[in-house]
Amino acid sequence: MNRRKFLGLSALTTPLLISKKSLANTFQAQNKPIVISTWDSGMAVNAEAWKVLSNKGSSLDAVEAGAIHIENEINCCVGLGGYPDRDGIVTLDACIMDHTANCGAVAGLERIKHPISVARKVMEKTPHVILVGNGAQQFAVENGFMLESGELSNDAKNAYTEWLKKNEYKPVINIERKQNGPFAPTFFDDGTPNHDTMGLVAMDNNGDLSGAVTTSGMAFKVHGRVGDSPIIGAGLFVDNEIGAATSSGVGEEVIRICGTHLVVEFMRQGYSPEMACKKAIERIVKRDKAKAKTVQVGFLAMNKKGQYGAYAIQKGFVFSVKSNRENQIHDSKYMLS
Ligand code: GLY
Repeated sequence: MNRRKFLGLSALTTPLLISKKSLANTFQAQNKPIVISTWDSGMAVNAEAWKVLSNKGSSLDAVEAGAIHIENEINCCVGLGGYPDRDGIVTLDACIMDHTANCGAVAGLERIKHPISVARKVMEKTPHVILVGNGAQQFAVENGFMLESGELSNDAKNAYTEWLKKNEYKPVINIERKQNGPFAPTFFDDGTPNHDTMGLVAMDNNGDLSGAVTTSGMAFKVHGRVGDSPIIGAGLFVDNEIGAATSSGVGEEVIRICGTHLVVEFMRQGYSPEMACKKAIERIVKRDKAKAKTVQVGFLAMNKKGQYGAYAIQKGFVFSVKSNRENQIHDSKYMLS
């Protein structure tokens, strides 16, 4: 048999043989439906997403439901209850992505309660991916979202008043999350509050992946600052052939390495979700170790088998998992102690 014939034959036969076998393996190993999300507040978020997934709903509807849930929490660093920027204004970032690589995002959105649903509308009703600031707000109102008062929550008001007393009119970065209850904000050792980001990824009964991210961003940021959360490939990336990833922490560091896209690409190369996250964290640390010691970034990822993993720069990143097998919080591994 000449080489051309051999290649032709193997192209016809080998994939058939392999695909039967690997389909069987995939079927046995697959952990679906499943939802994973950042932080311990992810437990309540997962519970909402699970209502959709366990009724054979889509992963897209599930991640939106989870994100909406936390955006409703007034004492949370996500949604309108979150901390303001240094001018005292709460600005929200969110994005959503489905299994067909459709995606939508909003950034710097003011006075709208559910940025995740506006992001979904951007995805479904416009030819665009990201709307920002006044334009995003105008689009939201045109699509039936209510314009809220813009008043700070009591927690946020107190925190902002405290920050104004001692701030140098500059944003601060978060290092370690302290356990302050399910919807409490992140605090520094000195008690300075900072942000959380809710990122979640789900796989539904069909094996389709989607993800969502919502945040009020870094507390006391410069007005107009946008972090990684609404940036596809930074705060969230979904590739339905491979897996999906999301991130939390200092968005600037994530954007610099296109973090979640990188994590998914590492999974494409065959790395497990945890190893893929670790390799992305390594990239951040390698770039500037001194700086890495002063910031927190955590990546969280899932592959097509429903295997998941996380990795962070520092101790303190946790994530929540809900599937038919478990419903719990996990500590992320980390690189620097
Ligand atoms: N990771 C969220 C932010 O930096 O805004």
